[in-house]
Amino acid sequence: MVLDSKKSAKLNFDDQEIDLPIFSPNLGPDVVDIRKLYAQGDVFTYDPGFTSTASCESAITYIDGDKGELLYRGYPIDQLAEKSHFLEVCYLLLYGELPTAAQLDEFIPRVTRHTMLHEQMAYFYRGFRRDAHPMSIICGVQGAMSSFYHDSTDINDPWQREVASIRMIAKMPTVAAWAYKYSIGQPFVYPRNDLDYASNFLHMCFAVPAEEYNVDPIVARAMDRIFTLHADHEQNASTSTVRLAGSSGANPFACIAAGIACLWGPAHGGANESALNMLREIGTVDRIPEYIARAKDKNDPFRLMGFGHRVYKNFDPRAKVMKESADEVLGLMGIEDNPTLQVAKELERIALSDPYFIEKKLYPNVDFYSGIILDAIGFPTSMFTPIFALARTVGWIAQWKEMIADPTQKIGRPRQLYTGAKYRDYMDVENR
Ligand code: SDX
Repeated sequence: MVLDSKKSAKLNFDDQEIDLPIFSPNLGPDVVDIRKLYAQGDVFTYDPGFTSTASCESAITYIDGDKGELLYRGYPIDQLAEKSHFLEVCYLLLYGELPTAAQLDEFIPRVTRHTMLHEQMAYFYRGFRRDAHPMSIICGVQGAMSSFYHDSTDINDPWQREVASIRMIAKMPTVAAWAYKYSIGQPFVYPRNDLDYASNFLHMCFAVPAEEYNVDPIVARAMDRIFTLHADHEQNASTSTVRLAGSSGANPFACIAAGIACLWGPAHGGANESALNMLREIGTVDRIPEYIARAKDKNDPFRLMGFGHRVYKNFDPRAKVMKESADEVLGLMGIEDNPTLQVAKELERIALSDPYFIEKKLYPNVDFYSGIILDAIGFPTSMFTPIFALARTVGWIAQWKEMIADPTQKIGRPRQLYTGAKYRDYMDVENR
């Protein structure tokens, strides 16, 4: 979009007055363009954690934290979760519009026919200890992909960018499923082109050569919905990592590996694993008050995992859909009295009526209920964040493609507020 400024902000300090253009977006807050601030005023802005900083222009995903709204290319997440499916959402995020039937018929086989890994990549897995966290494996295997697909690493070639994008969306389920199989000592199961995306992933995770494995359609639908809910989320930490890595011209496979590494942290994508472990540690509803007190205690590092969000100061709309899905899936699986789900619901009820959480606007986020569904499906907690990474791959790629195609993009290189030692000469050891 051509940014045209109809108003400006005046910054007055010392004997200077600097005019800073203000741009208005289609949705969300105006932005103050500070690109010329250092050149004109010899000052930096200071915003660790980027709480008030727009790092880029984007047309992909919009979040309204106060309304609890999440739009993929303008479409609300609850409608997409109910009416769409993950590969259609991938098309929407990548190309900006919902596909026609013909476009979908062309897109789906392009993904399906790229799900296999180069056979030699299977050897990477054997270099890891059996107890390696699957995130360490998928981070390594993803980065290594650039050594197998040299024909799609030239970021200046739009066709190679497209091929690399489809390859990664297609192969991530296989990479993640094989990490799971390796961790439990079972043979790798190859992808099958007769299965849809979510069913194929479940089959690669839970099938064994010794017998037929039929994917439960209820579980497949829940899996597909979880992928949709995690597909993209504006400029979160891992997406910003992918953009920053991509801004140096690094190949797409390396950029996505950087995103996987960032997502792993418990404050980000690792929260789904931590949230379920926390719910299990709490165990019963009578122990909830003890953990609520710990979460409020400034001297206790404990936080309610799956609660709070940098942007959402209202309900995370994904958490709402995930909670409904948890009820539906566990009910259909005949385990609606799942103790962990009961603890989660009671914890949410108590927390949302507690002044501490109300005034800090802490609500359940996408990670609070997802683990309950994944646990019910049969995944170990160590597979929760790899599943998040699998789903987010399309979002990372869509954002990376948007950045590379932006003619104004340049390498990301923030400055700092330096509070270290001033200039001093070297001192010989005998004089120190
Ligand atoms: C994801 O950015 C994204 O979009 C991410 C994501 C995506 O789709 O990409 O949505 C996915 O990462 C979801 C978030 C998953 N993380 C967790 O569930 C971990 C627990 N949550 C927190 O660590 C925290 O809420 C963050 C990291 C999510 C947000 O942190 P912020 O915005 O930096 O807020 P903060 O840490 O400054 O907290 C504000 C206050 C603090 O109290 P004060 O210092 O003001 O007194 O709220 C408190 C915090 O102590 N607080 C919590 C809390 N989260 C914040 N207190 C108890 N339990 C919590 N979970």
